[in-house]
Amino acid sequence: MRKVLLALAVCAATFVTACGADTPASTTNAKQTPATTETKQTPAQKAVEKAEQVAKVVKENAPETAAKVEKAADKAAEKTTKAVEKAEKTAKTAKENLAVAEKPADVPPGRDGEVVFKTCVVCHGPKAEKVYLNKVKPPREMAEKEIVQALKDYKAGSRNVYQVGALMSGNAKTLSEGDMYSVAKYIKSL
Ligand code: HEC
Repeated sequence: MRKVLLALAVCAATFVTACGADTPASTTNAKQTPATTETKQTPAQKAVEKAEQVAKVVKENAPETAAKVEKAADKAAEKTTKAVEKAEKTAKTAKENLAVAEKPADVPPGRDGEVVFKTCVVCHGPKAEKVYLNKVKPPREMAEKEIVQALKDYKAGSRNVYQVGALMSGNAKTLSEGDMYSVAKYIKSL
């Protein structure tokens, strides 16, 4: 009877232990499996979700973005056109300013340009740089050809750009045509 009880006890103990050992293990496994699957899926799912969100935002903003890109392109094109126009204008001005005035062979040589220019300094400055009466364009900013033409016109009394042409005509009348070419050349050398 004692033996039977002992055997039963051992059996029970074995059973409990076996069960005890088994049960938590299988429980853990059962719990672990989905947990592992979950952690494996989550980043992938998250990435898909994020990609979907990004795609949605891109899709939603596409017309706006396209409009923005178009606007920026238009602006850039406009800027380029303006820059080209400015460069062309600068080139034109530079070319015009370089327009030299060659004295025709039939015009007798005038006095030395430096000598003639001494009579201009009082009004136009030592470098022909003065804005006389706060309005007259400095002669140095004019092309050689333009200066000669202006002097000829003042001498003829037909030029009156700032309504004070008389002041200049008196001076121009003292100049020979040869003087005009030499003084214009001298002004551009200053
Ligand atoms: C008494 C002052 C005076 C003196 C001296 C004088 N100028 Fe002038 N100059 C003027 C005035 C004023 C004008 C502007 C006249 C006008 O309304 O068109 C002018 C205009 C000019 C212009 C044309 C400017 C423009 O924008 O069209 C040139 C070029 C010029 N002078 C060159 C000379 C030279 C070269 C001399 C010397 C030989 C000279 N001037 C002496 C007063 C003077």
